[in-house]
Amino acid sequence: MNTNRVIIFDTTLRDGEQSPGASMNREEKVRIAKILEAMRVDVIEAGFAIASQGDFDAIKAVAEVVKDSTIASLARAAKGDIQRAGDAIKPANSGRIHTFISTSPLHMKYKLQMEPEAVHQAVIDSVTFARQFTDDVEWSAEDGSRTEHDFLCRCVESAIDAGASTINIPDTVGYTVPDEYHALITMLFNRVPNIDKAVISVHCHNDLGLAVANSLAAVQAGARQIECTINGLGERAGNAALEEVVMALKTRKDHMPFHTDIETELITKASHMVSTVTGISVQPNKAIVGANAFAHESGIHQDGVLKHAETYEIMTPESVGLKKSTLVMGKHSGRHAFKEKLKELGFTLGDNAMNDAFKRFKDLADKKKEIYDEDIVAIVDEESRDNDIIKFVSLQVVCGSKVEHQTAELELDVDGELLSTTAEGDGPVDATFNAIMALTTDTQHLQLYQVHAVTEGTDAQAEVTVRLEENGKTVMGQGADTDTLVASARAYVNALNKLMVKREKTAPEAMAV
Ligand code: KIV
Ligand code: ZN
Repeated sequence: MNTNRVIIFDTTLRDGEQSPGASMNREEKVRIAKILEAMRVDVIEAGFAIASQGDFDAIKAVAEVVKDSTIASLARAAKGDIQRAGDAIKPANSGRIHTFISTSPLHMKYKLQMEPEAVHQAVIDSVTFARQFTDDVEWSAEDGSRTEHDFLCRCVESAIDAGASTINIPDTVGYTVPDEYHALITMLFNRVPNIDKAVISVHCHNDLGLAVANSLAAVQAGARQIECTINGLGERAGNAALEEVVMALKTRKDHMPFHTDIETELITKASHMVSTVTGISVQPNKAIVGANAFAHESGIHQDGVLKHAETYEIMTPESVGLKKSTLVMGKHSGRHAFKEKLKELGFTLGDNAMNDAFKRFKDLADKKKEIYDEDIVAIVDEESRDNDIIKFVSLQVVCGSKVEHQTAELELDVDGELLSTTAEGDGPVDATFNAIMALTTDTQHLQLYQVHAVTEGTDAQAEVTVRLEENGKTVMGQGADTDTLVASARAYVNALNKLMVKREKTAPEAMAV
C-alpha cells in the first residue's frame, strides 16, 4: 500500500445534504455520484439509509450505478440502522457501513444519556453487527475532538478489534485547531496498540473556518482518509471542502508529500452541479471554485500574470477545469446533438424527460440566439425531476403599473391530476405564489427570493432561487426561464417538492449528525 496516498471520502450526499436548505432526490444524488466517480473519489457516502425511504432508495440507486467508488451509508449504533444501511449498499461492487456513536462526556451525558461503559459496549456491538453485512466497516467517534483521551483510545482499540478497518475521529463541532488536532492523531498513533490495522480518517466541520487546515494537519500526523464535501457543504458552517484539500495537497506537495487520485479537472463541473442541484450558490471569493478565484482585478496583478502566470497564480485555472463558457448550440441543433451535449454535462434523462427538455431547448432557441452550457443545465435540471409529485404546467399573469389587481392564473399537475386556480397578490410574484399555495400547501414560509441571469444579455434566462421554511426545516428551490415569473413559479414548485422529501425524513432530531 502506498502510505502517502490520501483516501478521499466524499460526504456531499450525506453531511452535505444536511446543509440548511439542501436536499436532493434520488436522480440528483445519482447524477452527483456519477461525477464523483468520474473524479475518482474513493468513497462516496450516499446518505443515511434509516433516515427515510427516499434516502434508502437513493443509496441503493447510487450503489447500482456507481462501480468504481466504494458506496457508504451512515448508521447509528443500532441494529435497525445498520441493517438498513447493509440492505441499501448491497448492490455495490464495494460497499461500506459507516457506524458512529458519540464519545465525548458532553454528548454521552446530555445527548445519549448513556454511561461510558454502555457506549463502549455499543461500539463493539455495532461494529460486530455491521461486519455481518460487509468487510468494510468504518467507525466514527462522534465529537471525537472533545473526547477524553483514555476513553477515545479504548473505544478505537475495541472498534478495530471488532472489525472496523477505518477509524474516523470527527471534529463534529468545528472546535479544534490544527496543532491540537495534529497532537490528538499523534496521541492515537502512540497509544492504541492495534492502530496499524486501520486507516485513520478525519472529518472536520468549518465552524471556525479551520476545517481544511485541521484536515491537512491530521494528514501530517498520519491520517490517510479525509472526509469532505464539494463546495464545503455540510451541517452548519459545512465540512472541509474537497476542492480545497485536494488542491492544497496537489499545489503544496513540496511541503506535504501526499497525494490523492482525484481528477482535479472535473472540480469546476462538480461544483456547478452541486450548487445547481442544491440551490446553494458558491460565494464569489470562495477558494478554488468561486467566480473570482482566478480573476485578477488590479492592473499590477494583470500585468504580472500576462508577463508570467506564476507571478500571481499558484495553480492554473485549467487544472480545476475552468474554461470560458462555450457557445454550444443554436436553433438548428438536432436531437442527437442535444442528447450528446446532455451526456457531456452529466445528464441521463428518461424518454419523457428527454422529450420535454428538447422541447424547452427548442423554445429557448427561438427566443435566444446564443445558447450556452449554463442555459442547457438550467433548463434540463428541471426535466430530470421526473419523480416530482408537483409539476409546473402553465402560468399567465396580469400585471403592470396600470393594473389594479395583479392576478395569476396557474395550472399545476399534482400527483397526475391537472389543477388550476386564479389568485391575486401584492405584485405578480406574490400573486403567483398565492396561486401555488392555493393548489398545494400554505404551511411553509418564504424566506428568500432571488433572481439572477444565467448568462449575459437582456434575452438571458432568469434563474430564480427561493428558500422555504417549515417547522425549522429549510429547502432551496430553483427555476429557470426567459420569463422571470415562470422561473419564479418553477422555483417555488421545486422547493415544495424538496420540502415533501424533508417532511418524509423520519430520523429523530436528537441524532444531530
Ligand atoms: O460530524 C460528525 O461527527 C459526523 C459523523 C456522523 C461522522 O457527521
Ligand atoms: Zn459531520
